[in-house]
Amino acid sequence: MADLDRYAVLGQPVGHSKSPRIHAAFAAATQQTLRYEAIEVAPDAFAERLSAFHAEGWAGFNLTVPHKQAGAALCESRSEAAEQAGAVNTLIRTATGWHGDNTDGAGLLRDLLVNLGVTIKGKRVLVLGAGGAARGILAPLLAEGPAELAISNRNPWKPEEIAAALKPLGNIVPRTHLSLKGDRYDLILNATSAGHSGAIPRLPPKLFADGGVAYDLNYGQAAVPFLVWAKGEGAARVADGLGMLVEQAAEAFQRWRGVRPETAAVLAGLRG
Ligand SMILES: NC(=O)c1ccc[n+]([C@@H]2O[C@H](COP(=O)([O-])OP(=O)(O)OC[C@H]3O[C@@H](n4cnc5c(N)ncnc54)[C@H](OP(=O)(O)O)[C@@H]3O)[C@@H](O)[C@H]2O)c1
Repeated sequence: MADLDRYAVLGQPVGHSKSPRIHAAFAAATQQTLRYEAIEVAPDAFAERLSAFHAEGWAGFNLTVPHKQAGAALCESRSEAAEQAGAVNTLIRTATGWHGDNTDGAGLLRDLLVNLGVTIKGKRVLVLGAGGAARGILAPLLAEGPAELAISNRNPWKPEEIAAALKPLGNIVPRTHLSLKGDRYDLILNATSAGHSGAIPRLPPKLFADGGVAYDLNYGQAAVPFLVWAKGEGAARVADGLGMLVEQAAEAFQRWRGVRPETAAVLAGLRG
């Protein structure tokens, strides 16, 4: 029997996840009664566990590394955002399976536009990385009308593939890191996982335009290398991805519970 108050984030590793704390805060703030936990699931057990969770009556899940792409393939239906990203981070229970959504792009836009007051329209924007996170944010960024949206990655073929796949939505310029030499961007987003090993992508110098903003989708220690590099390169503002994490969670909460929680106090609490 379905327990419409039972949720979890599935990943490997997942012990570090802030999602249980965020959703508990949202539940308290909106007077909702729900349970939300973090469950470690290995990739080779993922499909089987997802069926079992449905049989056990779970109401919804967040997916994190490494399950976002596999989750998309296992859903019986997907939102437009999930189709464009080729990845899902939110599962919503249906009578017979799971509906997949991707709230990463909406969460990023909310953090940039509303929380940080960063403009995208008419600006030159560069996304570093071509994994699941980059795929999730490109279409929403494009929809904001940047003057240019470029994507650059260590593996040079992935930006070409992504730009071709998203061509019907608009122009994304595929680049390699080294070919960026001489170009200037108003906003550079780090969507790589390099920071988890204390690294940054190998980039040419002087990529920031006057007043340029650096945004790292990572947060905590993993955001330090890129944001330190960006300050040294003259970025006027730098921000980590903690706001995106809270905002994508709020989007997921809204899809599950029909109410969008206030995020400012939760974000301040995590920073505190
Ligand atoms: N704040 C949030 O809410 C939020 C949401 C989603 C993701 N994230 C973060 O975003 C990051 C990316 O996530 P993902 O799901 O896209 O991961 P992913 O699918 O594993 O992709 C990783 C990307 O990082 C690149 N990369 C890894 N190590 C690198 C290095 N040393 N130098 C240069 N590039 C490197 C990879 O390049 P290759 O293709 O060449 O291997 C690939 O483009 C993660 O750290 C994740 O925690 C944050």
